[in-house]
Amino acid sequence: MKSMRYSHLVQRIAGEGSDAWVTHYEAWAARERGEDVILLSVGDPDIGTPAPVVERAVEQLRAGDTHYTPSGGRRHLREAIAAEHRRRYGQPVEADNVILFSGAQNALFATSLCLAGEGDEVIALDPMYVTYRATVEVTGAKLVRVGTSVADGLRPDLDRLAAAVTPRTRAILFSTPSNPSGVILNEAELQVIGELARRHDLWIIADQVYAGLAPGGRVPSLANALPDQHLTICSLSKSHAMPGWRMGWLVGPKPFVVHADNLVMCMLFGMPGFIQEAAVTALSISEQAERNIRDYCARRCELMYQGLAGIAGLRCHRPEAGMFMLVDVSGTGMNGRQFMRALYAAEQVSVLDGGVFGRDTAGVVRICFAVEEQTIEEACRRIARFVSSHVNASG
Ligand SMILES: Cc1ncc(COP(=O)(O)O)c(C=O)c1O
Repeated sequence: MKSMRYSHLVQRIAGEGSDAWVTHYEAWAARERGEDVILLSVGDPDIGTPAPVVERAVEQLRAGDTHYTPSGGRRHLREAIAAEHRRRYGQPVEADNVILFSGAQNALFATSLCLAGEGDEVIALDPMYVTYRATVEVTGAKLVRVGTSVADGLRPDLDRLAAAVTPRTRAILFSTPSNPSGVILNEAELQVIGELARRHDLWIIADQVYAGLAPGGRVPSLANALPDQHLTICSLSKSHAMPGWRMGWLVGPKPFVVHADNLVMCMLFGMPGFIQEAAVTALSISEQAERNIRDYCARRCELMYQGLAGIAGLRCHRPEAGMFMLVDVSGTGMNGRQFMRALYAAEQVSVLDGGVFGRDTAGVVRICFAVEEQTIEEACRRIARFVSSHVNASG
């Protein structure tokens, strides 16, 4: 085979070189073979898209809504998104502040390309969603990670954040509620972040894909306080159980949207019309759809917490929102990776090493609780058995 050349960017987007996902893929393959494994290493709840949304998409397909659409999105959908954003965050935005993307991930990617390049830095708060590094570094910019303290409940370390700002910093990126920690940035924390952004003319990139799962379906936001430099990224993936529809968007200042639209012209060329119409329906039932997911997650979070809380050696961090729980396993004498591997080998329960989200979370594992209730009960039984036999064996 000839050795062909690739661009520099293929290096920047290459995987973490980490084998963190090895257990997940082993478990996935074992489940496909029909083995009795429990997969708690990713979050894709077994909940269907709300029926009216599916109906609307089918109707549109039957009616021939299969042509090109305006690159940034149909105006009535962008108006509906703007209205929802106004209601949640009080920021007086309109359709021209909104642009559609193929999921929040695509919006994050486009945002990076519009804001950062060679020699720039973007700061992200650990523990951090795994795609952020490649998403930022594909542009040639450097991702600067600011650590957290597991002992302090995984809240952001704002002194370290302030110290990380340099003349090269272009943006501060975070998810709130956070994946993986479930932490929701509070008003006081946002005020510090906002002050830094204001003082140093930084963009704020707020990834709010889990906002619909937060209490009342909203999170504190700097959008209204810093309208010229704040980007809110969201999607229907989590809030409406619609990850496969790839419907996401960004709300930001109009000049940003103009640049992003130019990028969309050469990157995406518009979202499918039938999906946009289905999204209008989804937004019209947001309250009910989000309440369903919140109730689903809250019940299962509590069950998982109760099932694990009493196990000596484990310390559970109760998330404020989302579908994941971080569990500190350092009391077992293992780090997250060792725990992940040994638990799977002994009990066929697949969790994720917290080390993939940052150095400070190397002693934790991330467990997804968005699964059937009986699965949670069985997983907790197996984890308890594993920990007690490990502690007995080593102690
Ligand atoms: C924090 C965070 N941001 C973005 C995404 C991607 O979301 P979407 O499906 O809208 O692309 C995910 C998906 O898990 C996520 O957890």
